[in-house]
Amino acid sequence: MALPLDTDHLRARQARRIPLYRKTFQLLRDPMKAFGEIGVQAGGEIIQLDLGAFRPYLVSQPDHIHHVLRGNAANYPRLGMFWRPLSTLVGYGIGGEGQYWEYIRPMLQPVFAGKNVAAITDDIVATIIDRVDDLDLKARTGHPVSAEREMTRIVQHSVTRFFIGDRISVDVADRLGDAIVSATTALASRIVFSFVPDWIPMPGDRTFKRAIRDIDEIVFPVIEEARRTPSDSRDVLSLLLQARGADGRRLDDQQLRDEIVGLFVAGAESSAVALIWLWVALDENPHVAAKLYEEIDRVVGEGPPRRSHLTELRYTKMFLQELLRMYSVGWMVPRKAAGDDVIDGVHITAGATVLISPFITHQLESVWENPHVFDPERFAPNRQDGRQASSYVAFGTGPHQCLGRHLFMMEAQLVLAAILTRFRPDLRTPSPVEPRIGLSLKPRQEVEIVLHPRQDRVVEK
Ligand code: HEM
Repeated sequence: MALPLDTDHLRARQARRIPLYRKTFQLLRDPMKAFGEIGVQAGGEIIQLDLGAFRPYLVSQPDHIHHVLRGNAANYPRLGMFWRPLSTLVGYGIGGEGQYWEYIRPMLQPVFAGKNVAAITDDIVATIIDRVDDLDLKARTGHPVSAEREMTRIVQHSVTRFFIGDRISVDVADRLGDAIVSATTALASRIVFSFVPDWIPMPGDRTFKRAIRDIDEIVFPVIEEARRTPSDSRDVLSLLLQARGADGRRLDDQQLRDEIVGLFVAGAESSAVALIWLWVALDENPHVAAKLYEEIDRVVGEGPPRRSHLTELRYTKMFLQELLRMYSVGWMVPRKAAGDDVIDGVHITAGATVLISPFITHQLESVWENPHVFDPERFAPNRQDGRQASSYVAFGTGPHQCLGRHLFMMEAQLVLAAILTRFRPDLRTPSPVEPRIGLSLKPRQEVEIVLHPRQDRVVEK
């Protein structure tokens, strides 16, 4: 796609407007379904959603996304909707934009580099296995377990290990995880209704303040302790304590707190929610499940899984990629147009919000063959070559692309392998399980599974 020339502005057309007041009832009752239908109606075209005073553009075709998130990313900062309320929780560092984000990102990047993640993988594996042991005790009662509760716990403990090492006990890690979930849930209405000014009270405001207090009461003492007793561990806090910014300075306590909490918010909920959907996907696609079970049995045997198994778990990785295509947990990636622009002949007005939704792009018939079919094979190495750039944006793209994408893949492969070497899942939630609107794309219903201990395995407990 040609980049806009100055004269393009003169010839550019206005985006087609979709008046949303006609959909008000449906938007209130089932916003996610209404949003999906709008995406289908747009069919890849740039449209403007008319919500009265708020008129965001919806950009869903891969080359248009490429332009916003990569080619002309400087014109589309992370400001306004979503980002402003989020900054009250995580500050303006890695979840922000501009000079300070440019200062922080190079300090964090090496922490997520393959070598560092590999060095800490064994600790993460041990944490996952401990949490699956806890799950084992519950599963053996034969009662259904809540996928949300259990997956959240496993993820929170393993990312806590990665972020702050073993500086807090299992109980405190649970409290920290709960406080972060509480804060992000309380923020949801401020994010979805981001046009409401801060001085108007909203549901969740008080819970949010309490959650911030709980988070700070745990994180600041951990930082103090880490300063007093430095370690050569590869966790994020230890590495950030030693890192220096481009100006040669080290981060202060508030900056460290913001980055640790920011990583939690970016990484924990999205990963946990993805792991909830996987039980739905396995239940709805028994042929896929059979292939996955076969691979895990062949590679991992009776378990437990180890770091060395990861490269062999190829189908498992393709399964996870497809999972995030169908259930795009990070369903909304908003930006603000700093200046006027033209995308493919359509005028974008300065100051407007531009919405990119992996959820919609991943369902476009013009981009994906049979987009509603769950087919991990589309991620086979020989089938990815012809795919358009920026058509798969589960982890975003461009300068803000997800730093934790490899960590998530590794963690999710290990969680699947650790659970499936011991159990066979049985979904108890009636289908269809539908998504609902929120900070991430969560299932609307409570997802419950019975984990049947495998009869072909004798697991010593
Ligand atoms: C299923 C799991 C995950 C999904 C779907 C996901 C999705 C995304 C998306 C869509 C973005 C781009 C945001 C934007 O362009 O504005 C992003 C950014 C980011 N993600 Fe993830 N993420 C996941 C897991 C993780 C994990 C495990 C971590 C950390 C441990 C993490 C850390 C980050 C960070 C730090 C950024 C901001 C990067 C920047 O702006 O420089 N994510 N993620």
